[in-house]
This record gives sequence, structure tokens and C-alpha cells, in this order.
Amino acid sequence: MENQAPERKKRVLSLIQPTAVPTIGNYFGALKNWKAMSEDYDCLFGVADLHAITVRQEPAMLRKQSTEMFALLLANGLDPEKSIVFMQSHVPQHSQLGWLLNCYTQFGEASRMTQFKDKSQKHADNINVGLFSYPTLMAADILLYQSDFVPIGADQKQHLELTRNIAERFNGIYGNVFTIPEPFIGKKGAKITSLQDPTSKMSKSDPNPKASVSVLDEPNMIMKKFKSAVTDSEACVRYADGKDGINNLMTIYSCCTGKAYEEIEKEFDGKGYGDFKVAVAEAVIAELAPVQAEYKRIITDTAYINECMAKGAERASRLAQRTLDKCMKKIGFKQI
Ligand code: TYM
Repeated sequence: MENQAPERKKRVLSLIQPTAVPTIGNYFGALKNWKAMSEDYDCLFGVADLHAITVRQEPAMLRKQSTEMFALLLANGLDPEKSIVFMQSHVPQHSQLGWLLNCYTQFGEASRMTQFKDKSQKHADNINVGLFSYPTLMAADILLYQSDFVPIGADQKQHLELTRNIAERFNGIYGNVFTIPEPFIGKKGAKITSLQDPTSKMSKSDPNPKASVSVLDEPNMIMKKFKSAVTDSEACVRYADGKDGINNLMTIYSCCTGKAYEEIEKEFDGKGYGDFKVAVAEAVIAELAPVQAEYKRIITDTAYINECMAKGAERASRLAQRTLDKCMKKIGFKQI
């Protein structure tokens, strides 16, 4: 119909912690989908630097890694003119809404978060309140922007469910303040596992360097890591229960090439794991090459990075303030 306002595009938001260079788990579980979604949706993508301090960080390192992660988001192909790309700490509304949401989250439900339990075990000497309330800050990240979809890996699903519960509770009391977000979890790549222990998630913080491949690893390093990946003794490339190592490599290969598992099985019929591992490594090297080249270019351009950060913060902040104002008014804070 003429003169009708165009329907609002669905909004997408996701963040990544700057605690280390992202792994191919982060890449296939999240970053690759971010890039794809940025073509069709109204998107916000950010560096979750506030989340990072739930674990002790060295100040200079945090600053450096946050900047590098921001540059990597741009190198991943996110257009800062189109999508809003921002640093979480540059938008104070995240902390403000995070506090408010703490008061609408039950101690019991936050205690059930498996990541809290895992991280408490890993950092037994620093089980701080921030680690506990981490998911309410994540809920604030999402709800501030009335996000419709949140592209994440499988490990963040529980946090998203909590976000939905908090939003529904808040809306139940005050009316429709928040959009209820949906997780977007890719069919493949939602859980890339460690190359050394394929039953556990590939993680940036794994102390074994052979367990994970970083997005910025050099080609020869990538090849070496895949060659030493743990597999099984069957010597047959097929996707099946109990073949976690091969299943993981097939998933990675499929994410790079778009090939289905049956196609991959046919392609490597009669071939050994040695050939398959080389093919997976080559596919990953080719997949990452444009991101790495772009990163090398952007990371030296400090002025451009700073300019993008400032623009992202300004645009994100404007949107965030609208929701925060609405929320505070509903709760009963006196406005001036
Ligand atoms: P983070 O920084 O641990 O990871 C960033 C994204 O990568 C996904 N991911 C994986 N996907 C597949 N396989 C893996 N092995 C793998 N490892 C990580 C994660 O699911 C995530 O999507 N709490 C979040 C950051 C965050 C956030 C948010 C996300 C803060 N606020 C709001 C979405 C919306 C985190 O620590 O992700």
C-alpha cells in the first residue's frame, strides 16, 4: 500500500568477550552468522568488555584485547555504517539496566546457570558477585535494544532463556516494555569442540594451545593443529555416535564448504584421516584468509578504529536510552 510506513526490520544483537583472540568456535558459532545476518537485519554487535572483568584482567591487556576484538569485528565484514558496532563499556546504559534487572532476577535462577558453576570452579579464588550477576548484564545488553534475535553458540542458550524469563516477568508487572528475544543458533557450528578433547567445547581460555584454532592463527599453525587433532581408530570418515573427533572435523569442514555430511563421507570414501585432516585445515585457512588480511590492514589504522568506536557508541547509546527511560519511568523513578 502506498504511503504506509515500512515495517520495522527485525533487530539482531550479539556480543563477544575480548578475553582472547576468538577461536573458530566463536567464528562458526557466532561471528560468521553475524556477518550473514548483517545483510538483512537491523544489527548491533559489540565487544563485551564489562563482562570480561568478572575474571581478573591486566589493565593494559584488557585495553589492547578490547581494541583488537573491535577491529576483528570490522575485519569480519561488519559494515559500521550499516550495523552498529560498539564497545559495551562506552554505553553506560548497559550497567544501568543491568542493575535494575538484578532486582527482577531471583537468586535461585541465577544460581542455576551452568556457566556460573563452571567458572566458579575454574576461578575458585575469585567467585565475585559480578560472575554471579553476569547473566543479568547480558539480559540488559539484549533487552536495551528491543532485540528480536540473538545469534549465539549453544553454550549461551541458558543465558538467553533467563533473559526471556526476566523480560516476561518485567512485562508482566509493568506492561509491554521489552521485546522477548529469540536465540538464533545455527544448525551447524553451534558447538565446535576442542581438537584435543572433542567431548568439550573449544574455548578461548583453554590452556592447551593445540586444543583450539584462533581466527588469527597463521596457516602453518592451523595445519599443524589439525594434523594433531584427536580422532579415533576406525579410519573411516563418517558422522556417527562415539566419533566425536571426526564429527567435529566434519562439522568444521561443512561450515567452510557448505557440504552436507553425506557429501563429505563420499568425498573421503576410502581415504585416511591424514588426507581428511589436511583438507579440513586447508578449508579453514581459505575461510579465514580474507578476515586475516582485512584485520592486518585495519589494526594499524587507529584513527579509523577510534572513529568507528565513537560512532557506534553514540548510535547505540541513543537507542539504549529510550528503553532505559521507559523502564525507569515504569518502575517509578522520578524523572526531571
Ligand atoms: P563468548 O565471548 O564466550 O563467545 C562469543 C560467541 O561465540 C560462541 N561460542 C561458540 N560457538 C560454537 N562453538 C564454540 N566452541 C563456541 N565458543 C563460544 C558463544 O556462544 C557466543 O555466541 N556471554 C557471552 C557474550 C555476551 C553476549 C551478550 C552474547 C555478552 N552479552 C548479549 C549475546 C548477547 C560470551 O561470553 O560469549
